[in-house]
Amino acid sequence: MFRSPVAPRARKRSRPAEAGVPRRQEVKFEDVRVYLVERKMGRSRRSFLTQLATSKGFIVEDVLSDKVTHVVSEASQAASLWKWLKECTPTNPPDMHVLDISWFTDSMKEGRPVAVETRHLIQDTVLTSPEGSTPTPVAAVSQYACQRRTSIENNNKIFTDAFEVLAENYEFNELEGPCLAFRRAASVLKSLPWAVRRMGETQDLPCLGEHTKAVMEDVLECGRSFEVEKLLSDERYQTLKLFTSVFGVGPKTADKWYRRGLRSFSDALADRSVHLNRMQETGFLHYGDISRAVSKAEARSLRTIIDGAACAITPSAVVALTGGFRRGKEFGHDVDFIVTTPELGMEETLLPKIIDGLKKKGILLYCDYQASTFDVANLPNQRFEAMDHFAKCFLILRLEGRGVEGGLHTAEGDVRGWRAVRVDLVSPPMDHYAFALLGWTGSRQFERDLRRFARGKRGMLLDNHALYDKTKKEFLAATTEKDIFAHLGLEYIEPWQRNA
Ligand code: CTP
Ligand code: MN
Ligand code: MN
Repeated sequence: MFRSPVAPRARKRSRPAEAGVPRRQEVKFEDVRVYLVERKMGRSRRSFLTQLATSKGFIVEDVLSDKVTHVVSEASQAASLWKWLKECTPTNPPDMHVLDISWFTDSMKEGRPVAVETRHLIQDTVLTSPEGSTPTPVAAVSQYACQRRTSIENNNKIFTDAFEVLAENYEFNELEGPCLAFRRAASVLKSLPWAVRRMGETQDLPCLGEHTKAVMEDVLECGRSFEVEKLLSDERYQTLKLFTSVFGVGPKTADKWYRRGLRSFSDALADRSVHLNRMQETGFLHYGDISRAVSKAEARSLRTIIDGAACAITPSAVVALTGGFRRGKEFGHDVDFIVTTPELGMEETLLPKIIDGLKKKGILLYCDYQASTFDVANLPNQRFEAMDHFAKCFLILRLEGRGVEGGLHTAEGDVRGWRAVRVDLVSPPMDHYAFALLGWTGSRQFERDLRRFARGKRGMLLDNHALYDKTKKEFLAATTEKDIFAHLGLEYIEPWQRNA
């Protein structure tokens, strides 16, 4: 496939053609092989467009073969075009784009192959869902979450909830493969603007395997999946689920406690062989509050608090909401912020000072601060690490009800007038801001697929720090998220469309 549209390879200026010598066109885009469908276009227009494209460094194939990457047609009747295409290329290479003329004209205008967008595609089959809800062209569903738009509205919750239980159980058993398979499947279904009503409708969807489909069939036929029901009443699953709901308790610790015969919080707290670390102690102490979702109004109030704390340190402080709330979620398990300053280097000391300010205000209930280990000399990271190297802190703050519009999201009858909330702050240097923002906005599945797409489709390495082009052996700079999407040759996906 073609490379980043914003950073094409260095181009040589072609010399003016010498009289009498037929001009040999220089090929600039070796990875792109265009085929123009003559039907509807006509022979003379086809030959004119061929010349135009060749003069701009494109390869235009005369015959339709497996080498072709971009089929361009002027035909508006998709069905007959596809029928014809399938007859010509029985193998139907997966990487072949079937595009309408708008992709071609855009590319001519730009002088390079532009990234394929959904509006360029000529769809194969169109799935009409029952009850007349929005039909989705199946060919448009990509296997990569970063090529899908996923709002917070989930039309397939009955399936994705079931998948999540199974994925979680695989996670408890450290079976990464099947866990990821169920998360990917859930992510595909979340992106659909319609609800799946029959298995036939899933025929052309990516990432749905035999196992996921069997679960879906159960849900469609019986309203529930027997495998999921069994798990939900399974003692080990229930106990691990309970233990991992405590801040600071991961699957490993939960399993250790389970194997010691512990089944409840009181078991764990009474057991003399269990030594809680500071995080877990705090987790139990504030369990009721921090296992309860944080509302949007509470997140807004926290923003005011963090803004105040940051601006007290330096008026140039930049505070940006990130994580689930930036994606438009109504509730979250915490609130995530990026806090930095345009004064390079100053971000290193910003968080400790903010933490100090919060402590002085008497609202700091817990703080796990991790100083920056970021060093540009160590980039690019060949292997993705779960944690980035920026300075960050995981906090629990005391949030007063006064500042929260509509009041705190606490249990009925709670008269304390405050609650504990989890807050994450991360502080990247400003020249890496866009990467940190993209990485911390999530969702986790969206990030995973951005990295998988970058590596697999573009030969690039992406993480929360930088984007590196392995072919060109260079870093691709970005000041905004849009820059990063453009480097990757991806349509820009808004934060609220990243709920994959
Ligand atoms: N993240 C990260 N590095 C970390 C922690 C988080 O890159 N050390 C990223 C994750 O990839 C995630 C985002 O930051 O996409 C937010 O993380 P988290 O708060 O756990 O998830 P949310 O999507 O905000 O969900 P929730 O609303 O439940 O908090
Ligand atoms: Mn979050
Ligand atoms: Mn977080």
